[in-house]
Amino acid sequence: MKKVLITGGAGYIASHLIKELLKVDKISISVIDNFKTGFLKTIKTLQTLGEFNFTQLDLSNFEVVKQYINENKFDTVIHFAASSIVSDSMKDPINYYMNNTVNSINLIKCCSQNGIKNFIFSSTAAVYGDIKSQHPIKETTATNPINPYGRSKLFIEKILQDESLVNKEFNFGILRYFNVAGADFENKLGECHEPETHLIPLVAKVALGKIDSISIYGNDYKTIDGTCIRDYIHVVDLAYAHIEVINYLEAGNNSDIFNCGYGHGFSVKEVIHEMKNISNNNFLVKKELRREGDPDILIADNKKILKKTNWTPKFDDLKLICSTALKWENTLI
Ligand code: UFG
Repeated sequence: MKKVLITGGAGYIASHLIKELLKVDKISISVIDNFKTGFLKTIKTLQTLGEFNFTQLDLSNFEVVKQYINENKFDTVIHFAASSIVSDSMKDPINYYMNNTVNSINLIKCCSQNGIKNFIFSSTAAVYGDIKSQHPIKETTATNPINPYGRSKLFIEKILQDESLVNKEFNFGILRYFNVAGADFENKLGECHEPETHLIPLVAKVALGKIDSISIYGNDYKTIDGTCIRDYIHVVDLAYAHIEVINYLEAGNNSDIFNCGYGHGFSVKEVIHEMKNISNNNFLVKKELRREGDPDILIADNKKILKKTNWTPKFDDLKLICSTALKWENTLI
């Protein structure tokens, strides 16, 4: 029986992974969350789907974390717990470095000292910063984050690399997520941030009449229709990517960094057009000035994860991403 710990299990991406892991044989799953941004309701939903151990635990509580890791002897730790709103990170950088960097360092130290073999880290395309020319973006593309959120994640990438050089038994898989969207096909789980800043859930709210209009932040970018292009990856495909990276590390392969995206993108206007079609609602769209720090285009080169692991994208379909997000949004008050 393999023992897996998931931090931040009440959050959007982690909860979709837990749902998929509950279907895998011979895994004992433990989950922690502090409920600062995750939801108790999500844990309760997951508990109706299968068995796992849940502990409410804040990673800033170093002594308790140390004892918990020491007592449980996990094989793999998948570390999601983090703050993830770019604009907040610019207003309160210290809080981002404390939560995303300091707390992660403590967790990594406990894991490395307690014989944890595999550490899987939720990183982000934000580590690349404002890429002007090199599309799609390879893992070897220079990292140059332009906000504290991206930097708070990049520091941890470097620390994992340094630690695995001195502790040869400690392996890592770093997953750089591009734009994660969509929801569980059974409509039990989905995205819910407070406040919501991401394009797809916001457009879903507009399509359902919860908000009057959607604003397009900038229509003068160097793209085909002037609006920003992003590589939207379905959250269930991303959950599968984690499972394949666990398998990859358990098979004894080397620690590595993997971009997680489909290798092509859609513009803001294309996303809005798709949501109008599927909701049959010609809702109001407003033009706004550019949002600070938005690169024109962010598209993943996903060749490495395709080649080195058994991950095969199954839901590379904007219509499916938008329709699952819309269906989920409809369940929220
Ligand atoms: N956008 C709008 N109107 C909105 C919201 C967003 O036009 O109301 C635009 C943004 O300007 C951007 C695009 O839609 O061009 C996507 O914006 P999101 O806020 O949905 O996502 P980001 O690309 O800004 O960032 C997300 C995550 C980051 C991660 C990044 C990786 O929030 O953590 O994807 O690509 F780093």
